[in-house]
Amino acid sequence: MHVVRTPASARAIARTLLRPVGFVPTMGALHRGHRTLVERAQRENASVAVSIFVNPLQFGPSEDYERYPREFEKDAALLDELGVALLYSPSVERMYAPGFSTRVNVGVLAERFEGAARPGHFDGVATVVAKLLHAIEPTTMYLGQKDAQQTAVLRRMIADLDVPVDVVVCPTTREADGLALSSRNAYLSAEERAAAPSLHRALALAAEALLHGQDPDVTMTRARSVLLPPLAWDYLSVVDVERFEPVRGHTRPALVIGAARAGAVRLIDNVSVAGIDERDPLVTPERDRDRLIRA
Ligand code: PAJ
Repeated sequence: MHVVRTPASARAIARTLLRPVGFVPTMGALHRGHRTLVERAQRENASVAVSIFVNPLQFGPSEDYERYPREFEKDAALLDELGVALLYSPSVERMYAPGFSTRVNVGVLAERFEGAARPGHFDGVATVVAKLLHAIEPTTMYLGQKDAQQTAVLRRMIADLDVPVDVVVCPTTREADGLALSSRNAYLSAEERAAAPSLHRALALAAEALLHGQDPDVTMTRARSVLLPPLAWDYLSVVDVERFEPVRGHTRPALVIGAARAGAVRLIDNVSVAGIDERDPLVTPERDRDRLIRA
């Protein structure tokens, strides 16, 4: 596995990789969710590149940038073992040289929900991912459903800036009790951890009820009551997957999104409501391997 630290060396090595190239951007502290993305990228590409970069631009001033878990050696060993061809892990100084001032702003989509709770967050995400895509020039980028609004923001950025990359969204990997895996789950106290799966239960209940045409107001009230203390709702909503605009009634497809506070930690999750064609509006179906091999 090549380990590179600068945009120029990332590009130079990436250009020698067998194509198609799958790319998985991460902030490290890799868990089973990240691993699923890497493994899918491997099934669908000739080479896989991964980035590990804890991006200061996407953290608010009172957020956990300093204490975000950093486990580079362990992560690199795992990626090497998985057969990743290129690991790009730049320093903050190389990503954001003195004088750096450009921001990629995707507009209102980035100001709703997570964007409202974390001002500037999605500008930071869109900016760093634009830089990473320029360095790696992948065929396809792999993202997780867990961060659904992030996938919408990045799809918007890619379409608007004509970035020549496909996006694949992989389903959320969960603990047995339903809690979505996240590097930040490590911050939860025992009491918060015990209550944490109730976020997914609430979203799943709402999605199931909406899918079966039950009354949206009754459904949302019921779902709201499922969250267990000490968790508290930040938001619970039903939106369309592209613009993250709230939808009402029996719109299908849709996405039930929720965020809950657990002390200093915020948990986010979502469950999709399939369209009448039964297709998931967010997750990309696995590609036909035969077609890939022929391509
Ligand atoms: P990070 O939180 O490390 O997540 C990297 C990728 O893994 C994202 O696409 C995220 O949605 C996905 N992921 C995280 N938890 C998952 C789970 N339980 N199941 C499936 N996929 C999961 O998201 C970021 O980093 C950053 O914002 C980044 C895109 C790298 C830009 O800095």
